[in-house]
Amino acid sequence: MQILGIDIGGTGIKGAPVDSLQGTLLAERLRIETPDPSTPEACAEVISEIVRAFQWQGPIGVGYPGVVRHGAYTLTAANVDKGWIGLDARGLLEQVTECPVTLINDADAAGLAEMRFGAGREHPGVVMMLTVGTGIGSALFINGTLVPNTELGHLKVRDKDAEKRASDRVRVEKDLSWKDWAKRFDEFLIYVETLFYPDLFILGGGTSKNFDRFSEYLTARTPIVPAGLLNEAGIVGAAMEAYEHHRTRD
Ligand code: BGC
Repeated sequence: MQILGIDIGGTGIKGAPVDSLQGTLLAERLRIETPDPSTPEACAEVISEIVRAFQWQGPIGVGYPGVVRHGAYTLTAANVDKGWIGLDARGLLEQVTECPVTLINDADAAGLAEMRFGAGREHPGVVMMLTVGTGIGSALFINGTLVPNTELGHLKVRDKDAEKRASDRVRVEKDLSWKDWAKRFDEFLIYVETLFYPDLFILGGGTSKNFDRFSEYLTARTPIVPAGLLNEAGIVGAAMEAYEHHRTRD
């Protein structure tokens, strides 16, 4: 089934129609800068621009960079405008786009896509997907089933949110070498390893395409692999989630 997948990020809002059963994009993705301030209304306007660009009529799946309850409510907003906190985001986006909308946490979305079509394909046991971009996102899978909203990027490492020390934004802002950034990220990884002892780490987000530049500095014992779908996982996973909602509602 065709679904419009949207990924709201700290710097860009990306979207493309997706074949949710094949995990493929049906057109080149469109990226529009995230508005500043990134209020719900301003982001909704960008999303409706994407809807118009693809002349879209049908279900939409939206990956959101914060906690999402029941496909509808956004509860936190670490890297976007605080107006999203406690919002019926589905209500707002359905009103603006006139399409049925399902929301999901962005890392959970990327994880769903990786587990079905990417690096976690048919991987049993405990799999932990981590996305590294403006923030750090996490998605936990137990025998393929998602435990949503784990939010491990906010674990405290040296008294600071892990993402405030080891996100890709921090690497760029502090002009860290890959080695210096990797040491910071490794501290976080070891912490997560001792909490969950996963069978596999999947690393996604902006940094995953540079995996070869820093993987030698990671010391966790758990196998760690880069995401298979790279930039597209968030869009594909959001579409997969919307498909599931749509299917079970009918
Ligand atoms: C948010 C997470 C999100 C991650 C990546 C964090 O700041 O709390 O919900 O998955 O950033 O965007």
